[in-house]
Amino acid sequence: MEISDEVNRGQEVYSKPILSIYDLWVLGISNQFIWKCPTKRLLAHFNNHISSNHLDIGVGTGYFIDKCNLPTATCRIGLMDLNQNSLNEAGKRIKRYKPSKYRFNVLDEVKLDISKFDSISVNYLFHCLPGKLSDKLVVLDNVDHLLLNNGIIFGSTILSHGVAKSRAAIKLMSLYNKKGIFCNAEDSIEDLESYLSNKYSDYKIEVQGCVAIFSATKLCS
Ligand SMILES: C[S@@+](CC[C@H](N)C(=O)[O-])C[C@H]1O[C@@H](n2cnc3c(N)ncnc32)[C@H](O)[C@@H]1O
Repeated sequence: MEISDEVNRGQEVYSKPILSIYDLWVLGISNQFIWKCPTKRLLAHFNNHISSNHLDIGVGTGYFIDKCNLPTATCRIGLMDLNQNSLNEAGKRIKRYKPSKYRFNVLDEVKLDISKFDSISVNYLFHCLPGKLSDKLVVLDNVDHLLLNNGIIFGSTILSHGVAKSRAAIKLMSLYNKKGIFCNAEDSIEDLESYLSNKYSDYKIEVQGCVAIFSATKLCS
């Protein structure tokens, strides 16, 4: 797999040591006090949309799949990520579901011929990807063939424009953008809305703190 330096920077931070503090720093502290979107709000978004035939993309530590209420005891769960550490960590955490793991750069065509899913999550993925938001949202096209008709794709992303940012948020976002951990300095609610409204007739975006929380249904054409 050929990966550009920019794409590499968005995922290479997820080493084993960083993943070991991710839940505490990102989900425990940053979401609540810096991005002002408590993790319980994002978990509620998972609980509202997840199905028992689900693909999680950009898996991190697997927190949300582990903690959410899956609708049935037997589930088909797929995990997709570019970073093998993330796949391993999330896979271990939810091993009770015997997840299938897929290693892909989702900015490229995802050449995968498997049964489709009823739901797909892309949580906190876009702000890690390089480029303009309108270009990164091509991910939704790249994985569209993996979503069933009437299936739902949902997630959230930290934005720079069109959201309320505290001074701490401005500082941390700027640092993360300098280090290449985030690439969201130009990401705006307008670009997200414009992409979703062009692609889906049924979609929803809510903003909490610096975070846009979205969902869209793939309607039969
Ligand atoms: C901020 S973490 C999100 C983790 C989790 N979804 C959450 O909400 O806590 C971003 C994840 O996206 C993955 N990632 C970054 N760039 C990627 C790419 N180009 N293709 C696939 N996965 C990528 C990273 O390896 C990491 O696991």
